[in-house]
Amino acid sequence: MNKPASEIENTINSSRSSPRKSKNQFLRKLSSCSQKLSIYILALFVVFLILIQIRSLQTLPASPWDVVHQWEKIVANSCLSSFHESGVKELKAMASKLREAVTFLPLKDLRYANVAMRGHTWFMSSMYDVHEEGEVQYQQFPTKSSGGRVLCYKGRDTHDGSWNSYALAWPEALPHNATLMDGITFVSYNHYDYYNIWHGLSAMMPFVGWHIKSQCAVPKRWILYHWGELRTSMAPWVETILEATFGAPLDIEKFDGIYRNESDDYDSPACFEEAVVMRHNEGGMSREKRMEVYDLMRCKSRMFCNVSSRSGKGLNIGMTMLMRDGGRSYKNASAVIGIFEKECRKVEGCRLMVQYPHNLTFCEQVKLMSLTDIVISAHGAQLSNMILMDRNSSVMELFPKGWLELAGVGQYVHHWLASWSGMKHQGAWRDPVGDPCPFPETDRRCMSVFKNGRIGHNETYFSEWAKNVLNEVKLRKVNGDVSKSPVSGLCGCM
Ligand SMILES: *[C@@H]1O[C@H](CO)[C@@H](O)[C@H](O)[C@H]1NC(C)=O
Ligand SMILES: *[C@@H]1O[C@H](CO)[C@@H](O)[C@H](O)[C@H]1NC(C)=O
Ligand SMILES: *[C@@H]1O[C@H](CO)[C@@H](O)[C@H](O)[C@H]1NC(C)=O
Ligand SMILES: *[C@@H]1O[C@H](CO)[C@@H](O)[C@H](O)[C@H]1NC(C)=O
Ligand SMILES: *[C@@H]1O[C@H](CO)[C@@H](O)[C@H](O)[C@H]1NC(C)=O
Ligand SMILES: *[C@@H]1O[C@H](CO)[C@@H](O)[C@H](O)[C@H]1NC(C)=O
Ligand SMILES: *[C@@H]1O[C@H](CO)[C@@H](O)[C@H](O)[C@H]1NC(C)=O
Repeated sequence: MNKPASEIENTINSSRSSPRKSKNQFLRKLSSCSQKLSIYILALFVVFLILIQIRSLQTLPASPWDVVHQWEKIVANSCLSSFHESGVKELKAMASKLREAVTFLPLKDLRYANVAMRGHTWFMSSMYDVHEEGEVQYQQFPTKSSGGRVLCYKGRDTHDGSWNSYALAWPEALPHNATLMDGITFVSYNHYDYYNIWHGLSAMMPFVGWHIKSQCAVPKRWILYHWGELRTSMAPWVETILEATFGAPLDIEKFDGIYRNESDDYDSPACFEEAVVMRHNEGGMSREKRMEVYDLMRCKSRMFCNVSSRSGKGLNIGMTMLMRDGGRSYKNASAVIGIFEKECRKVEGCRLMVQYPHNLTFCEQVKLMSLTDIVISAHGAQLSNMILMDRNSSVMELFPKGWLELAGVGQYVHHWLASWSGMKHQGAWRDPVGDPCPFPETDRRCMSVFKNGRIGHNETYFSEWAKNVLNEVKLRKVNGDVSKSPVSGLCGCM
């Protein structure tokens, strides 16, 4: 959460604007092309009509099609025989040239180091993304635009992304010693950290968008890059939610089976029958598309954990406090719990649950959140669990002193996640009291003091806040706005 999140927003904004611009240019060109095309078709049609007229006046020896067929025969007879003699040899020579022409470029392009997250980024910088309005941005190989070429990597370096490289090659002319890996390969680019749940989830969610878009096709393996450096693991919570979503444990590629000569740093290439590359997180996706993604992850997680829908007898409101140890824990946890418990008790059907997520399994968290309408928590990774609540549920977030002034836009990630997953962020409480900082309080160096500060309480404020949120949730439930759990085992994925 402490990453310079201004960059996060930059990515989202820039990746939204630039493809749109190029798309407009493309549309303009297309429309001028299509004007020309329609004139051309019209002219062709007139010529055709004239031909038919002529034919009906005089009797031609054959229809225009017969003429075409005769011409084809002549061409074939004069060309084919000699072709058969030398053709095979030439083809082989050509394939060998194509094989040698495959050029590997560094995965991390240092020319774009200062705009690493913008536009086509510094990762595979010569490639452009497919982007339809409101949809996930991705690259796919092979496609028409890759000329039918597949993606190849020499990509196992874990320290410097400019040592790893990529290339496109025709499947008939793969580079020497290449291994073709079958099935679909997901390639992720993450500018931050796969162990940070928020950043990990952000990097992974576009694959779920692609999965929905492509009739729920599933990957055979995953390749994870950070600045072009290979990574082979991620936060267990993220890995498990992906396992639930895609229906199989993740096979994260290490390139162990690919030949490498350590003495001369020679790496054999690995090529992929089909590859999907993501480097823009949720950038470019509309709010609806993002909600579809989280709906699917929620539904699949509940299925994976055998969590059934809540029994619907009478009004029941789940209020859950997700607790932390150490950094950003409460100064007086029992006092904070007491305040929310008191408010909960005043509302019929309300039940308060208090849990430390770090000692719950993934499925225990899924179960807990399926029973939760209001989650109360300090800012932190555990809040990513919000996506597992029913849609329209509420989030109440608490911050230690100093975050508002010093933490940058990264402090709003849970506002964004709530909006993207269809939840209601009900505001944040910011502790006015904190540990003393040896510098002036607006000095950036104070962030190291405040970052993991502990959180106090204000009984008046908390009571009022909880009362309002509880009333809103109660009203919504009484009015029958209750999200239903999945009806089929497919969670809407066909
Ligand atoms: C190709 O790979 C094999 C092992 O699979 C290795 O012995 C051989 O040296 C490699 N050839 C080249 C040109 O690197
Ligand atoms: C590995 O590289 C060294 C140095 O270039 C070379 O002498 C050796 O033959 C290579 N080994 C293989 C199996 O290609
Ligand atoms: C869910 O139920 C299935 C079949 O009843 C079982 O095989 C599976 O282990 C259960 N999963 C969990 C997480 O309990
Ligand atoms: C915590 O709060 C409770 C209830 O307000 C109070 O009784 C207790 O003394 C407090 N504990 C500390 C260590 O301040
Ligand atoms: C969970 O962790 C908290 C704090 O780390 C601890 O106090 C509590 O006893 C644990 N609960 C269980 C059920 O293990
Ligand atoms: C506690 O919250 C109330 C209501 O927002 C506010 O009026 C009061 O000043 C706060 N008390 C402290 C000590 O900050
Ligand atoms: C969420 O609330 C909005 C209005 O506040 C409502 O239109 C929508 O149907 C609700 N969605 C679900 C899934 O309950």
